[in-house]
Amino acid sequence: MDYKAAHPSCFLIHSLTMGNQLLFCTLLALIPALVTSDFLISNIRNIKKRNVANNITDEIDIYSLKIECFVTSRFSHNVITSRAVNRANVSKEALFDVELPKTAFITNFTMTIDGVTYPGTIKEKEAAQQQYQKAVSRGQTAGLVKASGRKTEKFSVSVNIAAASKVTFQLQYEELLKRTFGKYELFLKVNPKQLVNKFEIEANIFEPQGISFLDAEGSFITNDLLPVIHKSFSGKKGHVSFKPTMDQQRTCVDCQTTLLSGDFVIKYDVNRETPGNLQMVNGYFVHFFAPQNVSHLPKNVVFIIDISGSMSGRKIDQTKEALLKILEDIKEEDHFNIVLFESDVVKWNDTLIQATPENLAEARRYVQSIYARGWTNLFGGLITGIEMLKEAQEAGTLPERSASLIMILSDGLPNEGVSSIQEILLRTKNATQGKFPYIILDSDSALQLQDFYNEVANPLLTEVEFKYPENAISDLTQNNFKHYYAGSEIVVAGRIIDNDLNSITAEVKAHGAEQDVTYAEQADVEETAKATEEQKYIFGDFIERLWAYLTIQQLLEKRNVATGDEKTNLTAEILDMSLKYKFVTPLTSMVVTKPEDTVNDTAIADKPLEASRPVIPAYSAPQHYHRYTSVDADPHFIIDVPQKEDALCFNINEEPGVVLNLIRDPTTGISVNGQLIGEKKSSNDVGSIHNTYIGRLGIRNTQLNVKLEITPESITLHNGTKQMMFTWLDEVTLLHPSLTLKIIRKKSLEFSMGEGATFIVVLHQSWSKHAVHPNFLGFYTLDSHRLSGRTHGLLGQFFHPIDFNILEVHPGSDPQKPDATMIVKNNQLTVTRGWQKDYTEDVKHGTNVPCWFIHNNGEGLIDGIYTDYIVPSLF
Ligand SMILES: *[C@@H]1O[C@H](CO)[C@@H](O)[C@H](O)[C@H]1NC(C)=O
Ligand SMILES: *[C@@H]1O[C@H](CO)[C@@H](O)[C@H](O)[C@H]1NC(C)=O
Ligand SMILES: *[C@@H]1O[C@H](CO)[C@@H](O)[C@H](O)[C@H]1NC(C)=O
Ligand SMILES: *[C@@H]1O[C@H](CO)[C@@H](O)[C@H](O)[C@H]1NC(C)=O
Ligand SMILES: *[C@@H]1O[C@H](CO)[C@@H](O)[C@H](O)[C@H]1NC(C)=O
Ligand SMILES: *[C@@H]1O[C@H](CO)[C@@H](O)[C@H](O)[C@H]1NC(C)=O
Ligand SMILES: *[C@@H]1O[C@H](CO)[C@@H](O)[C@H](O)[C@H]1NC(C)=O
Ligand SMILES: *[C@@H]1O[C@H](CO)[C@@H](O)[C@H](O)[C@H]1NC(C)=O
Ligand SMILES: *[C@@H]1O[C@H](CO)[C@@H](O)[C@H](O)[C@H]1NC(C)=O
Repeated sequence: MDYKAAHPSCFLIHSLTMGNQLLFCTLLALIPALVTSDFLISNIRNIKKRNVANNITDEIDIYSLKIECFVTSRFSHNVITSRAVNRANVSKEALFDVELPKTAFITNFTMTIDGVTYPGTIKEKEAAQQQYQKAVSRGQTAGLVKASGRKTEKFSVSVNIAAASKVTFQLQYEELLKRTFGKYELFLKVNPKQLVNKFEIEANIFEPQGISFLDAEGSFITNDLLPVIHKSFSGKKGHVSFKPTMDQQRTCVDCQTTLLSGDFVIKYDVNRETPGNLQMVNGYFVHFFAPQNVSHLPKNVVFIIDISGSMSGRKIDQTKEALLKILEDIKEEDHFNIVLFESDVVKWNDTLIQATPENLAEARRYVQSIYARGWTNLFGGLITGIEMLKEAQEAGTLPERSASLIMILSDGLPNEGVSSIQEILLRTKNATQGKFPYIILDSDSALQLQDFYNEVANPLLTEVEFKYPENAISDLTQNNFKHYYAGSEIVVAGRIIDNDLNSITAEVKAHGAEQDVTYAEQADVEETAKATEEQKYIFGDFIERLWAYLTIQQLLEKRNVATGDEKTNLTAEILDMSLKYKFVTPLTSMVVTKPEDTVNDTAIADKPLEASRPVIPAYSAPQHYHRYTSVDADPHFIIDVPQKEDALCFNINEEPGVVLNLIRDPTTGISVNGQLIGEKKSSNDVGSIHNTYIGRLGIRNTQLNVKLEITPESITLHNGTKQMMFTWLDEVTLLHPSLTLKIIRKKSLEFSMGEGATFIVVLHQSWSKHAVHPNFLGFYTLDSHRLSGRTHGLLGQFFHPIDFNILEVHPGSDPQKPDATMIVKNNQLTVTRGWQKDYTEDVKHGTNVPCWFIHNNGEGLIDGIYTDYIVPSLF
């Protein structure tokens, strides 16, 4: 193999691994020959380009990209197929990258390389992770990425493709389309990032009730592209296609860039001659319920709004703006109230009051006076709102026929009162006793607060109850609903146990605005069969899959607020169904292994565990935020205490040049030291105190005889007497049976030694010559479980479980940062609540991690005193 064109570091790799020719080839294949450019990985399928050269013929070229959607009775089955060729004369990494709706489940993934297909298999998460880890530790992996956004989730897989070879990626996923504002929406993210010879979106929709309207639009569609979208519907069938030619994809006539980038949305609705529609096929039935000619009910709504310090700035402004708009929309027949929470909980009025023009004017003035302050006592706010609504219901001050609900907008980082989200949800569920729904919105959705409100603005029915012949059916999904809103639809599905049954009846009872109402519905096997057989693209078992999808979604919601035995049982049930129906749910993963002589490429598809999905339409729930035990900035140490869902933090103030021991494990021989550097000198501030930073890191494994030295300028791997040097301009993945090193250009480096010891080093580089901050490093422990019980050091001592208790919280010198008394390691300390930054995700701005700050160089928290951790040299 010719590697002369490669980056000089490849030469060193060669000499380092001379003893192992096979391994050398693997490494060469994985290290890109030229310096990488920063290509953002995003959205629907794109193949990442690894070279600076902007000549597609030298590159991985996606020559075909096809998105096919098959929708039958709201259940959508989607297939994304991407075909690419490596036109370079060296092997290249191809990356397949898709963004899916959060509510979708991946059902299949295959890779076809040079005509050989490697299928994905769905396994229990644990088992899949083990298989994946094993492959990683053997140096056989080609890629794993899992991430999640607010409305969508990303799925990506990378694989190494030999010169002049072809690869086909195919991903399948399924989703039940939800009806809001009177329409179903099929949402696709499109972002090929390059011109594609054959680009196609094609959707075929089949609805037994008949389609009443259909539309399709793209956020990137220009006037020229508008005629390229073909949409039509007739009777039960709808069709959308979008096949722009290469020239139509160009941003301008001679441009090589694509304008296909954004959302492509197909919207439709069905005819509603009857209030509901029942369908039965192959032993399963589904019932869609959406009556139209029903009058609105008055509603009683309590808005619970987070106004804690972390909401300050843009978030609180957007929240106020949305609330003011809602106050314009609220109907005079409605009752409402506003509860604000920070450390304290404030009620606008003592009880829910009617939305008269005078009361609304008063409420508007009140909203305008809101400002952000204090901490986040989410639980306090919730309980206050719930109790208020319960009291009003019991006191009979609300209209007899009305719908009550609670809308909560929170930052989702409770740090006062009850601080565990799980605990809050459990206690909230208990407190509401199922009497009314509550909707928790993430503060990031403040702008959409008004949309969310509009979705539930018109309740039509309450206490909606679905009944089916008991001895003929089983495994019914949820069949009791607090509310039915205008523009939405309720879906119930179940299994038919009586094989001879050829018709099924349903009875729906509910409270309406004037009286109680009853609806009856009937489905006939033959009728459904007739309605569906004309349909060639139907997938026969769609009702069964729809039923499985709905059941799993509902069990997952239940599991979020379950404990003990109930949780164990739910977990087993979900797992069982996910495996049976081949859904990648939060409890399963998909593993794709490419068996080959030299490389096993293993990829994994994962669905992250959701924080919570409360009751009705599951909007984005409070986000989980991560904390790693770490040291970063001037140096702040952050200690993660997972069992408390909280963190501790402290600073070490020492002179530049001093080397601190961060981790030392005599059993595995792994140690990590960090050397301090000072701020850049400035001539006019002699004598003032200067911050220090970690300027150099030394990671060592004495058993492997490997040392890794990291500075803001370079990364040097020493193996015995040999060494390999990289710069932060390199993009390198080094896979070795005993260690993995991955450098992300100009950003960070991930280093792991065997299974269960993984560290991330973040590069802080001020590209300006005049900045006071020097270039420095941050160090994060992602996984430490392989390290032994003897591990010590400033960070290492906290890899063992640590407990602490917070006694009285009281105002401190800074109004935003209260003090408290903490009992830890038998010491009583005065600590201060604050924030430190984690830079693993956002290297520039960091993410706030709330923590208890221990003063005086961590005195009382760390074993001994901080000078005990000073060591003579980096290694
Ligand atoms: C791309 O490469 C091909 C073949 O190497 C060459 O003929 C062509 O001129 C190049 N195009 C550009 C824009 O560099
Ligand atoms: C690959 O292509 C480059 C540029 O066209 C050329 O310089 C190099 O020799 C080729 N390498 C091989 C192995 O063919
Ligand atoms: C997955 O997709 C591949 C390719 O379309 C197909 O051959 C295979 O049968 C599918 N597997 C399952 C479990 O549906
Ligand atoms: C709604 O309309 C249908 C059909 O026109 C009728 O049968 C039904 O009684 C109406 N329901 C209500 C609640 O008015
Ligand atoms: C609650 O609203 C009523 C009606 O507007 C008003 O009379 C009363 O003073 C309010 N109470 C409080 C505590 O604001
Ligand atoms: C559940 O709520 C009831 C009152 O509604 C209360 O007495 C009980 O303590 C609550 N249980 C928990 C675990 O919060
Ligand atoms: C969990 O499952 C076991 C075994 O099927 C059963 O005995 C037990 O009652 C279940 N517990 C709950 C809380 O559902
Ligand atoms: C690749 O994985 C397969 C399946 O796990 C295994 O049988 C094979 O030995 C592996 N190949 C190598 C080179 O380790
Ligand atoms: C270090 O060198 C030895 C001997 O040359 C080799 O066996 C080992 O794989 C190397 N380790 C790494 C991490 O490259």
